[in-house]
Parts: sequence; C-alpha cells; structure tokens
Amino acid sequence: MTSAEAAPRPVTGSGGAEPLLEVTDLVRHYPLTRGVLLRRQVGAVRAVDGVSFTLAAGRTLGVVGESGCGKSTLARLLVGLERPTSGLVRYRGEDITRLSGRALRAVRRNIQMVFQDPYTSLNPRMTVGDIIGEPFEIHPEAAPRGDRRGRVRELLELVGLDPEHASRYPHQFSGGQRQRVGIARALALRPEVVVADEPVSALDVSVQAQVVNLMRRLQDELGLAYVVIAHDLSVVRHISDQVAVMYLGRIAEYGTGEQIHDHATHPYTQALLSAVPVPDPRLRDRGGRILLTGDVPSPADPPSGCRFRTRCWKATGRCAEQAPPLAVPAALADDPTPARHPSACHYAQTRAPDA
Ligand SMILES: Nc1ncnc2c1ncn2[C@@H]1O[C@H](COP(=O)(O)OP(=O)(O)OP(=O)(O)O)[C@@H](O)[C@H]1O
Ligand code: SF4
Ligand SMILES: [Mg+2]
Repeated sequence: MTSAEAAPRPVTGSGGAEPLLEVTDLVRHYPLTRGVLLRRQVGAVRAVDGVSFTLAAGRTLGVVGESGCGKSTLARLLVGLERPTSGLVRYRGEDITRLSGRALRAVRRNIQMVFQDPYTSLNPRMTVGDIIGEPFEIHPEAAPRGDRRGRVRELLELVGLDPEHASRYPHQFSGGQRQRVGIARALALRPEVVVADEPVSALDVSVQAQVVNLMRRLQDELGLAYVVIAHDLSVVRHISDQVAVMYLGRIAEYGTGEQIHDHATHPYTQALLSAVPVPDPRLRDRGGRILLTGDVPSPADPPSGCRFRTRCWKATGRCAEQAPPLAVPAALADDPTPARHPSACHYAQTRAPDA
C-alpha cells in the first residue's frame, strides 16, 4: 500500500471559499503494549488512519460511521485535546498540532467542542452558571471579571434557557437542557469552529430535533463552522454541507448530503443507508436491504487493501491488494449526476432502485 493510496489529498468541502480548517493525512495510532515491568509495543490501534478534508467558515461537515471507526478520536485531534501521530490540522493556515503553551491556548479558543453525553460531561457539583463561565477562568482576556455574570446570562438566553437558572445544578435540568448548557459553554469564547461529538445521541428522539434546530440557528446567527459527528446519517444529512462516511479510521465516501444519501456509490454507505429503518411499510425494502455480515475488524489489525473488503459483497482479489484512494472514481468522472463525488471503492456505482 503506498502512502498516496492511504492518504488522499484533501477533498474540498469549502465550495471554493478559503478553508478555515484544513486537515491533511491525519493519523492517530494508540500503542498496544505488553509486559508489566518491561512494557514493549506489540502493535497499534489505528484509530484515525489518514483523514483529509477542508471546512470553510460558516459551513458544516457531518461525519458518520459505526462505533469504533475513529470519530471521537478525530474530534479530539481537531480541538487539540490530543496530538496526532502524524498529519496536519491547519486553522487559518497555521498547523495547530505543533503548537503548545500560550499559542495553543489562543488557537483553542476558536475551536471548541460539544460532548456526546450531557449527563456526564457537566460537573454535577458546579452550578450551570459556573460551568458556562469556566472557560473565562482559562481565558480571562475573553471577559473581564466584572462582565462574566452578564456574559453567562447572555449565553443562557442565546441557547434558549432562563438566565435566572444560572444558580441551578445540572441535575435540575432535562437532558436537552443540559446539552444546551454544553453548547453555551462551547460558545463562551466565541469560537469560529464547533466540533460536536454525537451531540444528540444521548437525548430522547423528541428532543433531538430541538437541539439540532438550536445548532442551526446559532450557526446562522454567529456564522459558526461545525463538524457534527453522528453514527446515523439521518442526523447529519439536513444540517451538513458535506458528509464524510468513516470506516475503520478512514473516509470511505465524501459528498454533499444529497450525494451521500441519494447517490451513494460506496458499498459501506449503501449498507448503512439500507439499515436505516423506514417507517412506511410501502417504502420498506425498496432498494433491498443489505445485511452486513461479520464484525467490524479490529483497528489494531485492519484488512489489507480496502478495509471494508471483509464485509463487502463486491470484493475481489484487487480489493485485498490495493487500497482504493478517496477520489472521484474514473468510471464516474463524466457522470452528469450527483453520483460523481469522491468514493474510496474500486467498483463504485450507485445502486439500482430495485437491486
Ligand atoms: N485512548 C485510547 N487508547 C487506546 N485505544 C483507543 C483510545 N481511544 C480510542 N481508542 C480506540 O480507537 C478506536 C476508535 O475509537 P473512537 O472512540 O474514536 O471511535 P468512535 O467512532 O468515536 O466510536 P463510538 O461511536 O463508539 O463513540 C477504537 O478501537 C477505540 O477502542
Ligand atoms: S474496493 Fe472492493 S471491497 Fe472495497 S468497497 Fe469497493 S468493492 Fe468493496
Ligand atoms: Mg465516539
């Protein structure tokens, strides 16, 4: 496998605009060690293994994939909570992976994270006012001490919560309200980029749409760029300008919400889509269900060539030998339909409706 195959050039999601975030060949391997006294490395978990994309100001990239494919690791790398094994994360042209100290803190102000679980990510012993105002302790320059209470009230209002409730504790709020607190905290420093790691998956379905709508409104009002992570394509489809489908640490397919949802060409995406339950029985099984067999392989020992090949019904010998690059497939280069978009498959094609 050549590095060119493993690490495609960034596929542009910025629609021609100057990228705010530019991620190139991002890799994060966790060492696997053995032994108690003499710990030696016996391998590595390839959690993120060659991810590239760009994100423009005010735009949204959705990232979807099954559990363990590297989504949260990618999120932590983007906000600087972890350093990559290799690769670059450029924010406004500057590689943030090499920064430390004050320079890193300054950049991190602009790239904030919303965590998956609003039940565990908020300190139960702090009031929500203190939680939302905590970033000001790390970045005192963002709000002079005398202004902080006012800023916290503004932030509560911004996310649709009662400013009078600043002195309450997290357990006095519902799940949806707690996630609003998490969002307010992420916005305290007025970031340009918000990375939201499964922001609604811990919430009741009835509340999910409200939180997604809030995120949309905040994006419009504040001009935020989002990376929104989900395991379900339906969550990100309507809020994303671009969607990246991840499998075992890599992007399998990349395109607009419409391209991915209605014109998927990668077998893995097609399988993900066919697994989405369709409530209307007349539509059920339209296009035929694809039942994925076999477990997801371990990221410590991924298959050679195409990582999806052990579960792919179209796999051939070529798939075991050559890793397909993430690029517009040659066979679709002149296709006039939305099927023409990057797909890391040697045999990329859309599914016939009655296939
Ligand atoms: N700190 C760590 N040390 C070792 N392995 C790790 C670490 N963090 C994550 N991993 C492994 O890296 C892989 C990717 O994990 P990650 O949490 O990024 O996946 P995910 O897509 O967010 O999954 P989920 O949908 O379950 O949240 C998994 O195999 C996980 O066990
Ligand atoms: S490259 Fe081969 S194994 Fe991989 S998705 Fe395409 S057909 Fe399947
Ligand atoms: Mg995760």
